Amino acid sequence: MRVLGIETSCDETGVAIFDTGTGRGLVADALYSQIAMHAEYGGVVPELASRDHTRRLLPLIQQVLDDAGLSRGELDAIAYTAGPGLVGALMVGASTAHGMARALDIPVLGVHHMEGHLLAPMLEDAPPGFPFVALLVSGGHTQLVEVRGLGRYRLLGESVDDAAGEAFDKAAKMLGLAYPGGPQVARLAEQGDPGRLRFPRPMTDRPGLDFSFSGLKTHTLTAIRQLERADELDDQARADVARAFEEAVVDTLVIKCRRALDQTGLKRLVVAGGVSANVRLRERLERECTKRDARAYYPRGRFCTDNGAMIAYVGAQRLLAGERDETGIMKAVPRWPMDTLREP
Ligand code: KG4
Ligand code: ZN
Repeated sequence: MRVLGIETSCDETGVAIFDTGTGRGLVADALYSQIAMHAEYGGVVPELASRDHTRRLLPLIQQVLDDAGLSRGELDAIAYTAGPGLVGALMVGASTAHGMARALDIPVLGVHHMEGHLLAPMLEDAPPGFPFVALLVSGGHTQLVEVRGLGRYRLLGESVDDAAGEAFDKAAKMLGLAYPGGPQVARLAEQGDPGRLRFPRPMTDRPGLDFSFSGLKTHTLTAIRQLERADELDDQARADVARAFEEAVVDTLVIKCRRALDQTGLKRLVVAGGVSANVRLRERLERECTKRDARAYYPRGRFCTDNGAMIAYVGAQRLLAGERDETGIMKAVPRWPMDTLREP
């Protein structure tokens, strides 16, 4: 089954084709990132995002078909991100998917964006088998999930306030760095002195697998203000703040992953979502897994952040199992808890 995947939930237009045939897999994928457009405003402007998806989506679909050497008529089904995300942005993908599916008379299915992130490592050469623990760390979510199979998810813990990526983006703003802040904070942190400042590791002193990053944000702001008042906020000090911030987030995530592995007794850890691109996080998790004879799995760099490939993949699994949107009913769900998902 050749499935066209469409991702338009936020600020990237992603399109891909996944073929479920033996030895096939991901046939083509393309991405248009709106980051440069939103950077000017310091964050995603929803209306601009929707307009840009409208502009980019059809040409991107054509590009992916050309790359794959396929015509539209050779597609067997279409999957699109139905949520969670910005409603206007989601509507662009949903209406395009439904329009195309109606014209081609093929099935169409709205899928969950975070399920896409969760299963993105399945696109790699040595994918993880079930069951595994997944750490989902993106701009909108920070969750630990026990995964027993497709649609068999148990939420172990999540952020009670800001997501890890959101915290990175806010810290970046405080340090005068451009949006999206995660990669910029990580780059600046490389120059930082790890011994100069120490930030708190929120919610690690009590049992449980929930996260909280808003206190860390306040702590970062206070540290910056203090340095400013003492007239010490030079480039080195900014790098030291970035380093202390990154260490605190990474340490917190690592502590909770360790707990989740202990609690479930599982030996596989999947790390996905934008923040999974963070090099220090990967290094620390690698070390942690080696210590306990466990293994960590990640998507390749460009599939850590939003992309069409993960949507084509998840859609293909569910479409293959017979799932479809009801005829003519397209879905755009801004808030959609992942633990409501079921096995197909
Ligand atoms: O998964 P994603 O592309 O979009 C959402 O679904 O939210 O994640 C984007 C988030 C942003 O907050 C960005 O700052 C963060 O991932 N991010 C990083 C890194 N690369 C992206 N955070 C820390 N270190 C990175 N290297
Ligand atoms: Zn995402």
